[in-house]
Amino acid sequence: MERFIRIGVVTAWPEADWHSERLLASCARRAEAAAIDPAELGTHVEGDSVVVLARGAPARQFDAFILARGFGRAGDPDVQFEIYRALEGTGALVVNRLEPLLSAQDKFRTSWLLRLAGVPTPRAAVAQTEADAERALVSLGEAVAKPLTGSLGDGVERLGPDDEGRARVRALVARDGAVYLQAWVPHPGRDLRVFVVGGRARAAIERHAPAGEWRTNVVRGGRTLAVRPAPGVEAVAEAAARALRLDYAGVDLVPAGEGATVIEVNGNPSWRGILDATGLDMAEVIAEHVLGRALRRRRSNDQIVLERSTGAIHG
Ligand SMILES: Nc1ncnc2c1ncn2[C@@H]1O[C@H](COP(=O)(O)OP(=O)(O)O)[C@@H](O)[C@H]1O
Ligand SMILES: [Mg+2]
Repeated sequence: MERFIRIGVVTAWPEADWHSERLLASCARRAEAAAIDPAELGTHVEGDSVVVLARGAPARQFDAFILARGFGRAGDPDVQFEIYRALEGTGALVVNRLEPLLSAQDKFRTSWLLRLAGVPTPRAAVAQTEADAERALVSLGEAVAKPLTGSLGDGVERLGPDDEGRARVRALVARDGAVYLQAWVPHPGRDLRVFVVGGRARAAIERHAPAGEWRTNVVRGGRTLAVRPAPGVEAVAEAAARALRLDYAGVDLVPAGEGATVIEVNGNPSWRGILDATGLDMAEVIAEHVLGRALRRRRSNDQIVLERSTGAIHG
């Protein structure tokens, strides 16, 4: 029990949200843990630095923050974004960090970062005009259209480069202003969700789409099965989380050869399906990871203070 480490779990729903509740309990088993409502955060600039306040008290009192449900209910989401930025600016340990969360939320940026890092992922495009969308679809061939920032399989549609698909992609751009297309990855109605924490694959499930459906999302009735993926698949999932700089992530993959292709990276993943299928509680793993980082940071800060006081470091 590391009583001298304090972890703030930022959530607007400390009790009603299952994930927040589990994170709080897992953190409290290891350290001091407190729920922080995102609307109770404030900040001010002073001289050349920025100070963040949690319930009126300096946020410095916390060694780490976990953004569990960092937006919502009260306050202003844009202000909350800025405060998380400010918090990181003060040197606070924040998990997951804001930029990685935003990258994971944007499916196009995810595709781009994965490609940059050499992580296998399908070809992808975004288009804002009907003509561009049609060209992109024809160039990709069989494809999946997705809302740029969607989740849970909502609005995810399979399109072919035929008349029907071309008409549909035009309609999507007309309706939404932009469309994200990703090349279709052949899969037999099942794929993998690998949960990565602290750079390592910690649990995985195979998700089977229900009859008459190709999307495997658990909320769409996908059945889950605990699996131990091949090392090559785990390595791809770990590389995906690293490419997006996420402390923890849910990576969706379709196995291919020795490895896999990444179709999506979630920066705010649920681990209910993983817990049900594997009995492994990712809240425990996340809390352990955050505690480890906070302790390492505390020790290296203490070391610097000690070296300064003994004259080992000058200046
Ligand atoms: N390129 C693709 N090829 C084949 N199936 C896909 C592809 N992209 C998504 N899917 C299926 O659709 C589901 C939802 O897509 P995903 O990109 O994970 O979006 P969401 O954020 O809505 O979960 C996936 O879990 C997968 O089963
Ligand atoms: Mg998904």
